[in-house]
Amino acid sequence: MKHLIKHTIIMLGITLIIPTINAAEVESLRGANPLNEKAKKPVPKRWQSDRAPIQRDFVHQPPLIPHAIEGYVINIRSNKCLSCHSWANYKDKGATKISLTHFTDRDGNDLSNVSARRYFCTQCHVSQVDAKPLVSNTFKPVKSIMGR
Ligand code: HEC
Ligand code: HEC
Repeated sequence: MKHLIKHTIIMLGITLIIPTINAAEVESLRGANPLNEKAKKPVPKRWQSDRAPIQRDFVHQPPLIPHAIEGYVINIRSNKCLSCHSWANYKDKGATKISLTHFTDRDGNDLSNVSARRYFCTQCHVSQVDAKPLVSNTFKPVKSIMGR
């Protein structure tokens, strides 16, 4: 019961605080358009084309994808990403090999192939567009990562 009360108080706090922070800075994709009118069609952003790997901002960050991935299929039969990033193929393709962590299942067992929880690459790795951040942010990586 004590737990429940604590939880309720925390959740209430969150629901009260978050909207006031976000409402000021983030606009919905519909803009200020009333719901019963058609929204402006959003202009699709262009994916950034292939470039060198992008610097990471924190130690366990899934690295950002520095190339376009349009049309790359990931389904039960095939995984386009692994055709370049698997240990079998990375050398020929000049790609980074997936790290050891991608072979570990949720119980900590090391498997001989990519773990199911690492199979859908784009759950964690995302390709990039040149867009301005939705919310301003002053985060800076620690020195050991920035090298400066
Ligand atoms: C045709 C081959 C190819 C395919 C397919 C491909 N990649 Fe890549 N990927 C590369 C190459 C080459 C690099 C750059 C390696 C370098 O320059 O060090 C790269 C870089 C990356 C990096 C950055 C690694 C780092 O250390 O910063 C990530 C993450 C990545 N790819 C994820 C993906 C994902 C996810 C997919 C599938 C949606 C995918 N790639 C499909 C070839 C490919
Ligand atoms: C659940 C999240 C998650 C999924 C799914 C995932 N990754 Fe990762 N990936 C990470 C994280 C976190 C790192 C950095 C830390 C590490 O190596 O585990 C990483 C690292 C990498 C790297 C860099 C390895 C290195 O040695 O620098 C590559 C390449 C990569 N992933 C490719 C892939 C590909 C291809 C897939 C799909 C088959 C995939 N990842 C699926 C989270 C994920």
